Amino acid sequence: MLIELESVTKIYNQGRPNEVRALDAIDLRIGAETMVCLRGASGSGKSTLLSIIGCIFPPTSGRAAIAGRKLSRLPDRFLTLHRRRTIGFIFQRFNLLPELTVLDNITLPLLPLGVGPADRRARARELMERFGIIHRENFRAAQVSGGELQRVAIARALINDPPIILADEPTAHLDSRLSHVFMDLMAELRAAGKTIVITSHDPLVTEHPAIERIIDIRDGRIHAA
Ligand SMILES: Nc1ncnc2c1ncn2[C@@H]1O[C@H](COP(=O)(O)OP(=O)(O)OP(=O)(O)O)[C@@H](O)[C@H]1O
Ligand SMILES: [Mg+2]
Repeated sequence: MLIELESVTKIYNQGRPNEVRALDAIDLRIGAETMVCLRGASGSGKSTLLSIIGCIFPPTSGRAAIAGRKLSRLPDRFLTLHRRRTIGFIFQRFNLLPELTVLDNITLPLLPLGVGPADRRARARELMERFGIIHRENFRAAQVSGGELQRVAIARALINDPPIILADEPTAHLDSRLSHVFMDLMAELRAAGKTIVITSHDPLVTEHPAIERIIDIRDGRIHAA
């Protein structure tokens, strides 16, 4: 799905002494069925940009559109529906529910879609096996390691089979073998027609042959696109 940003600006705490201009008039077009990497120093605006594409919050000004649909025109409940159906978001801070099991965290996005428990578990098991966390299926998220949590977050983002995958530093807590497993899966999904945006400084990601384009961001502005 085509992603288009036009003059997107995000200002946190606008008008207050702690105001931050995190994104400054970003124009960006990410073609449908491409896999790109968003690269930039800490604080450059990567997570903010991903959050706007992922409909977590709207820009302060400017326009974002997905597959030609302007997000600002969608009423809140449609935006939520759109996000559930369209976006798989791997959050930098995972955003998992610590009291739920690994399995329940992963299958959570399937609940509003009315998928039955057996089917939910079957889909989750496939991802858990791939990422080597099947032995943690019934552990609460609070009881597993950082690298395991990263893999739970990855599995949860993919379980819906979303057309757009947004991955915020997805390999930060993974060793090189697991990073390869992740990137190989992304390459497969890209070949199957997904649109993928990954933020990373990790050479295993930025130099992966399936990355078609690197977008450099500095102080909230795009430098090479
Ligand atoms: N909720 C917030 N309130 C105020 N400022 C924020 C908030 N979130 C982010 N910022 C600021 O906005 C700027 C961009 O943050 P962002 O998280 O997008 O950067 P990043 O490129 O993802 O950094 P990192 O590589 O460290 O994850 C930073 O200066 C950050 O401190
Ligand atoms: Mg970030």
